[in-house]
Amino acid sequence: MTRTMVITGASAGIGRAIALEAARRGWHLGLASRRREALETLRGEIDAVTAGRAPTAAIAEVDVADPSSAAARLRALFEELGGADVFVANAGVNEFTRIGKGGFPGSQRILQTNLIGTVATLEVAAEHFIARGRGHLVGVSSLAALLSIPSQGAYCASKAGLSSWLGAARIELGRQGIAVTEVQPGFVDTEIMPDVGRYPFAVSADRAARTIVDGIERRRKLVVVPGMPWRLFRPFARLVPDAVWRKRR
Ligand SMILES: NC(=O)c1ccc[n+]([C@@H]2O[C@H](COP(=O)([O-])OP(=O)(O)OC[C@H]3O[C@@H](n4cnc5c(N)ncnc54)[C@H](OP(=O)(O)O)[C@@H]3O)[C@@H](O)[C@H]2O)c1
Repeated sequence: MTRTMVITGASAGIGRAIALEAARRGWHLGLASRRREALETLRGEIDAVTAGRAPTAAIAEVDVADPSSAAARLRALFEELGGADVFVANAGVNEFTRIGKGGFPGSQRILQTNLIGTVATLEVAAEHFIARGRGHLVGVSSLAALLSIPSQGAYCASKAGLSSWLGAARIELGRQGIAVTEVQPGFVDTEIMPDVGRYPFAVSADRAARTIVDGIERRRKLVVVPGMPWRLFRPFARLVPDAVWRKRR
């Protein structure tokens, strides 16, 4: 039986790596992001990886920060695919946003994309799954959801909001046969994370994707990337003293 996965933010970084890993494992794919050309290049790579063993991926130009057009395009993508089994809300942005120093437009972009727009896409997918009586929502949050990092206030808030929403969705939708997985990466080598080598326990996007696709296939509630040591750190995240962040600035 063909299993179908739709991924937002599939044109680069973690989303692109998830798409390639899922394609290797036989998933049929729907690829969404703003840059059509990058998605077409990825589709060609997927065709080369699967060598005709899976149907060609479908593509949708989707800006998650614009919820009404994103909703229409995602619905059309689900229809083109003949239905989706898994929806991975991975699209996200980040930038430094210094509080009180003109950073608000950046904060607004982050919150609009990572929280409002992402929840809007998850709502569209949830409606699709409720109508089918089954499905699996996956939200790519971050370990930042558990922290309050200077110059990253909007990013941390966007991911904390997304994590809370995913927790509620799991309880609400579980009764209707719909699974919800929250993904919390630490540091992954992608464009969103320039100079990733400065950060502890950083992993490649390919390695992150293997862990994430394993977690999706096992319908895990939470996928931490990499699992160790971050699983040990998570219970203490709120105890990190402010002084640690002051020293890093
Ligand atoms: N890298 C890390 O260390 C790390 C850590 C924790 C969490 N994360 C999360 O992982 C997810 C993927 O990040 P990444 O590291 O892979 O970053 P990335 O390499 O910059 O990729 C971001 C992806 O999101 C898409 N995107 C951005 N804004 C969009 C919009 N408005 N509508 C549709 N797609 C949009 C981009 O595609 P287009 O430009 O084509 O639209 C791109 O495909 C994000 O949610 C990020 O917060 C990353």
